[in-house]
Amino acid sequence: MCGVPYTGKDCGGFGYGGIGGFMVRLSGRIGRLRESATLRMARLARVLRSEGKQILDLSLGEPDFPTPAHIQEALWGALSEGYTHYPPVSGFADLREAIAEYTFRQTGRATRVEEVLVSAGAKQALSHLLFVLADEGDEVLFPAPYWVSYADMAEALGLRPVVLPTRVEEGYRLRPEVLERGLAEHPRARILILNSPCNPTGVVYSEEDWRALSEVLVRYPELWVVSDEVYDRLVYAPHRFVSPYRYVPNSERCVIVNSCSKTYAMTGWRVGWLVAPEEVVRVCERLQGQTTAGACSLSQRAALRALTGPQDCVEEMREAFGRRLRIAVESLGVLSPWVKPVEPSGTFYLWVDASRLLGALVERGHRVRSGEDLAVYLLESVQVAVVGGDAFGDPMCFRLSCAVDEETLRVAMNRLVEGLSRLVEEVGA
Ligand SMILES: Cc1ncc(COP(=O)(O)O)c(C=O)c1O
Repeated sequence: MCGVPYTGKDCGGFGYGGIGGFMVRLSGRIGRLRESATLRMARLARVLRSEGKQILDLSLGEPDFPTPAHIQEALWGALSEGYTHYPPVSGFADLREAIAEYTFRQTGRATRVEEVLVSAGAKQALSHLLFVLADEGDEVLFPAPYWVSYADMAEALGLRPVVLPTRVEEGYRLRPEVLERGLAEHPRARILILNSPCNPTGVVYSEEDWRALSEVLVRYPELWVVSDEVYDRLVYAPHRFVSPYRYVPNSERCVIVNSCSKTYAMTGWRVGWLVAPEEVVRVCERLQGQTTAGACSLSQRAALRALTGPQDCVEEMREAFGRRLRIAVESLGVLSPWVKPVEPSGTFYLWVDASRLLGALVERGHRVRSGEDLAVYLLESVQVAVVGGDAFGDPMCFRLSCAVDEETLRVAMNRLVEGLSRLVEEVGA
C-alpha cells in the first residue's frame, strides 16, 4: 500500500503524508496503522457537539467516575515528596511488589518483583510484548470479536494478525477445535492473545473453557500466551474471574497484562503492567528504557495507593456498571429478534448482535449495511454514539458502553430504540 499520495483525509495505509501543504515521505509501517475506531467515534461525536448537537456518547471505553479521592490525594503527597524525576525504568520497587501481590491474589501466580514491569498503561505493556516475543512476519492469534488495538498494533510491528472466529450461538467463546485448526494452519504463530472478561463482548471464560483450550495448547509448548486481564475486577455473579494462567500447560509461557485504568477509573494516569518470566521483563525494560523511560512517576505513586488502599470504590463502580448493563439489556428487549444484546458477564460494555436487521437491510439495498454504517446512522439520526462491530472483527454487531450515569443511559437507550425501530419498520414493511 506504500507510495500512494496522501490526500490529507484518511491515512488509509499510505506511506506518504501531507504536512503544511508539502508531501513528506513517511514509513510504510505507519501506513499500516489505522485510527482507533473508538477514538474516531468519540472524535465524530465531539465535532457534532461543537455544531450544537446534543450527543449522548456510549462509545467510550473508560469509566465515567472520577478517580477515587484517596488515590488523587496520593498524587499530591507524591508531588510534595519530590517524585518529579525519572522513575526506575521498570517501575518503583514498592509498586512492583504491590503488583506481584495483586497478581497472586487474582491469578494464583506466585510472582517475584523481578517478574513485574510497570508501563504506561496495558496498551504499552502489550505493544512491548508483541515487539519482544515475535519477529517480523510471525503470527499473532486472537479470537474475534477482539479489542480494536490487537490487530493494528500487531500490523504496525510487522506481525501478521490471525483472527480465530467465535459464534454467537457458542456465547462468543473460543472453541478448542478452532484454536487447534488455527495453530495447525499457522506454523508461524508465536503469540496467542486471550482477553477475559472480553472487550467488546463482555464474555468471561470459565475454568472449563480454559481447561478445554489447554488440551490444545499442550501440543504447542513454544507458543506465548498473553492474557489481557484489564477487566478482571468487573465481573457479575454468578460468573467469576479466572485467569488462564492456572490452566495453560506451560505457565512460564503465559504473560499477564493488567492496569489501573478500568478498575480504579484511572485511564488518564497511564499505569499498567506486565507479569512475565524475568528474562522477558528484562528485555521489555531495555525497550522501555530506550523509548519512554517508564510510566509517569507521580501516577505510579497514585497506583500504589490504588492497589494497597481501600477497595470499596471498585465494588461501588462495579455495582453501578452492573445496574446500567441491566437497563441497557432490558431497553433493547423490544427490538427482539431484530437486534439482540449479548448477556454480559463482565466489563461495562454491551455487545449487540444486529445481524438479522443488517441482513434484511442489505437485502433491500439499504445504505446501512454494517455495524459501522449503523453507528453513523444512529449518531446522525438520534445523536447517540456507539461503535460499529467492524473494528472489533464482526461487522454485523455494535458495541455500546455503559460508562454514563443511569439517567443519561435511559435517555440514550430510548433514542437508540427509536432509531433502530425506524430501521425495523423499514425492513418489516
Ligand atoms: C481489552 C483491553 N486491553 C487493554 C486496554 C488498554 O488499557 P490501558 O488504558 O491500561 O492502556 C483496553 C482499553 O480499552 C482494553 O479494552
